[in-house]
Amino acid sequence: MESSIKKRSGTFNNAIGNYRSHSKIDANQYMIETENAKVYITVFSDNIIRVRAERSEESFSGFSYARIEDPKQVQFDVTESDSEIHISTSIITLKIKKNPLRLSFYTKEGQLINEDDASFGISWLGNEVSNYKKLQPDERFIGLGEKTGDLDRRGQAYVNWNTDNFAYAVDADPIYLSTPFYMGVHSGLAYGIFFDNSHKTTFSFGCSNDRFSYFQAEDGCMDYYFIYDDRVADIISHYTWLTGRMPLPAKWSLGFQQCRYSYYPYPEVLNAARTFREKHIPADVLYLDIHYMDAYKVFTWHPERFPDPAGLLKELKEMGFNVVVILDPGVKKENGYHAYDDGREKDLFVKYPDGVEYNGQVWPGWSAFPDFTKEEARKWWGEQMKVITETGVEGFWNDMNEPAAWGQHMPDLIEFHYEGEGGTHKKSRNVYGMQMARSTYEGGKNLLNGKRPFVLTRAGYCGIQRYAAVWTGDNVSTDEHMMAGIRLINSMGLTGVSNAGYDVGGFAGEASPMLFARWVALGAFSPFFRSHSMVNSRDSEPWSFGEEVEDISRNYIRLRYRLMPYIYSIFFESTQNGQPVARSLAIDYTHDGKIYEGDYQNQYFFGPAIMVAPIESYKEYARVYLPEGKWYDFFTDRMYEGKNELVHPVNKELLPLFVLAGSIVPMQSVVDSLMKEKPEDTMELHVYTGADGSFEYYEDDGESYAYQQGSFYRRMISYSEQNKQLKIQAKSGAYASHFKKARIYFHGIAQKNGISLNGNALNVSHENYRFIEPISDFDPYHVPPKPPTELSNLPYVEVDWNDSEILINVG
Ligand code: GLC
Repeated sequence: MESSIKKRSGTFNNAIGNYRSHSKIDANQYMIETENAKVYITVFSDNIIRVRAERSEESFSGFSYARIEDPKQVQFDVTESDSEIHISTSIITLKIKKNPLRLSFYTKEGQLINEDDASFGISWLGNEVSNYKKLQPDERFIGLGEKTGDLDRRGQAYVNWNTDNFAYAVDADPIYLSTPFYMGVHSGLAYGIFFDNSHKTTFSFGCSNDRFSYFQAEDGCMDYYFIYDDRVADIISHYTWLTGRMPLPAKWSLGFQQCRYSYYPYPEVLNAARTFREKHIPADVLYLDIHYMDAYKVFTWHPERFPDPAGLLKELKEMGFNVVVILDPGVKKENGYHAYDDGREKDLFVKYPDGVEYNGQVWPGWSAFPDFTKEEARKWWGEQMKVITETGVEGFWNDMNEPAAWGQHMPDLIEFHYEGEGGTHKKSRNVYGMQMARSTYEGGKNLLNGKRPFVLTRAGYCGIQRYAAVWTGDNVSTDEHMMAGIRLINSMGLTGVSNAGYDVGGFAGEASPMLFARWVALGAFSPFFRSHSMVNSRDSEPWSFGEEVEDISRNYIRLRYRLMPYIYSIFFESTQNGQPVARSLAIDYTHDGKIYEGDYQNQYFFGPAIMVAPIESYKEYARVYLPEGKWYDFFTDRMYEGKNELVHPVNKELLPLFVLAGSIVPMQSVVDSLMKEKPEDTMELHVYTGADGSFEYYEDDGESYAYQQGSFYRRMISYSEQNKQLKIQAKSGAYASHFKKARIYFHGIAQKNGISLNGNALNVSHENYRFIEPISDFDPYHVPPKPPTELSNLPYVEVDWNDSEILINVG
């Protein structure tokens, strides 16, 4: 077969060929030699098998910026017959057909998960290496990170090549970030494939063909991890075990962030800060975009615009604001400018193969580019940050790190250190942004004396979640873009990037008032929540669109702040198991075909409890799909049975939000600043009866690393529908909760009494409860009817939030 292909085509001449021999390399690894290649099979864990193939004459190191774990000690069986070798863990059986060499993966029960195309399998065209995988019946494809398009990527192809794509079209590809990890779904099964190759890669999910999916790299090694488990959530956990999880963010960074290209001179920053406080619109962060620098030179402050940065930072901190400053990679080529002279002297900039420094043009004009793939350069960058951190800055924004240079065609021959093994631009581009974010994160950590730095990045590669939050770059102020942003965030969540967001209001162009209002409401349910807009565009603070939009924005930003105990807990959960904060329905309802359809594909869970049904700003009705389960309308508590399609009326005030029965949602009183103000010491605990459920509550000081030494507060809260019992387990950890009391609201039960604590009857109270406030009547002449925002007579009890077990029986 293989040889006949060779004869016929003359181009497809580098197929892997027939099996020759195999040998055991170490406890987890086998090497198979074929006619043309060496194939290394490593059992990484019961659920993960790595496949690495190189041609006989090649030898790749196997080094990876993405992977942080080595193989676990696992038991597995290897059996061999004349025609096949089988490698079986307790979860996966890899069947290797010998002639020609082809791989297929099976469940323990013998069900086929994934198989090579019988003719092509792993093969080469020139230096380009591919793995062709047979399309399975009704196979769907999800993930691949920051990629535009539908949730189900079947029929599409994508290129990974980090690209500065200003005002990208909603179907543009590639954009800024490359995370070559996807999941396939078919026949009630799901699997993941992580193709760890930093060159330009192409993924086709049955695009322009009905035969195979494939992943392909322009150069380098075939090196992929096959991951299998029962649930998509578990596959994400395995993938993030391998590539890392986000560190626990500083709590202030989960608040509202206001950006502008650019606030300057400094009184403009103070103005924005004061207006937030005067208007009681909560916010924790203001940004300094490129104009804070002197001539756009990184690690400088503009002497006139920002004469006293430390003084400014102090004043802002007193008002409860942190500042995030932009740090772009391009270092202005200018003799006498310290960062340039020093970087050059220490040989830290990327160069041409003849040793001449590479220069490209960015904001500062002709610039040199630190080689972040070199340890010395990363350390150096971190040290330079002192000029910034000594003023009190704790947040850093890495932009233009694809890297961008005017013209967007950095010559491919430029050389990078790549941790000593060397690599051209072709091999290094996709990891450059990630290594810059790493330098910034590590630099920040070193300089902040035990505080958690916040880093935001535009470009990255698999594992970027270990260092930075990601935003989706230069989006546009349109409804289409708002919806596309939702899918980008959900898709990044499937790919390990839990902390991500979009420019609320759109970066390029100008949002209509209604679009901005809807975008803020949605942004409140995005992991990273920031409004931003471009230079020379109209203002885009929440008060810039009229009173009504200001009210709506205040409502949703406040709701976000009230949800902070819930949000902080779900961020913590993500640091433990890699589950995203914004969870595509494909995670929990993977095999329900409806969730991939039309508008439904945009729906997602914000944490385990709240389902968001995003909707364009101009629509009066939302089509909403409620998957299996029982559901509450968040604002009215109206209940719905799942497996149900709704036509849900929308209006400018109410974003369609639903809560799954069995959910437990801790909340707090509103504050204007997370960084500065403490909420009241009574927490709210919303319990949505009607099904079993649980939630792990997490709290700590929100800013230091003391939690790593045990200074945290964790407790499991669960509700049993059958026993009508809420159980709050004793806490673990040495941190003392801020809260002294809990007011527990029971949704879905009408009774006025009969609630008891550890056997003793409790006083049941009732309240007309609101998650948001009705917006004001701005026009006294025309007062439109108000949508219902009040839950009447919601029963609650109050208990001490002490540290031992609390058992509450309902009826
Ligand atoms: C890039 C960024 C944008 C920023 C601008 C100026 O376009 O994506 O967010 O405001 O550069 O720094």
